[in-house]
Amino acid sequence: MKLINLIFVFSLFFLITACGGSGKKKTVSTDQKISLPETDLEKGAVLYRAKCMNCHMKSGKGIEKFYPPLAGSNYLSENLEEAIYMVKFGSNKPIKVNGVKYNSLMPASGLTDEELVLVFNYILNSWGNSYGSVTLDQVKAVKRK
Ligand code: HEC
Repeated sequence: MKLINLIFVFSLFFLITACGGSGKKKTVSTDQKISLPETDLEKGAVLYRAKCMNCHMKSGKGIEKFYPPLAGSNYLSENLEEAIYMVKFGSNKPIKVNGVKYNSLMPASGLTDEELVLVFNYILNSWGNSYGSVTLDQVKAVKRK
């Protein structure tokens, strides 16, 4: 069993190096038009996978009529403050994303303001989105109504 594992690891290593891996760290795939530290985007991606992906999916496309898309979302690009509010405090009001109505529940994320900055900068700049970035001050300014 151990030997098989070893062989697997070695062949994996071989594959990676054979593919021209120059020892550079793999970066998160985003269409990065703004300059954010790569490590912050990676942290955002980790938070996304843990806290958002179940509903909004890996592709950011969501599930039509139940979970709205973040990829290409006009809601996210046009109502950033409101979007932050929803993720911070939860939401169950009817909204329209790319012309499709959604009225299901998104629970409050439970993330800190610092984590919200990371996850928002990730979703604003992933899957072809190029929606700018948010600052900690912007996230802090979003208070419960
Ligand atoms: C339990 C499923 C669920 C999880 C987990 C979840 N969401 Fe949502 N999200 C929803 C639903 C449902 C809506 C629409 C809410 C409504 O109708 O009021 C929504 C709406 C949104 C919107 C605004 C609409 C849009 O598509 O642009 C954003 C932005 C968003 N979510 C981001 C996130 C982020 C970031 C996370 C992780 C921190 C997250 N969501 C976690 C279900 C979820």
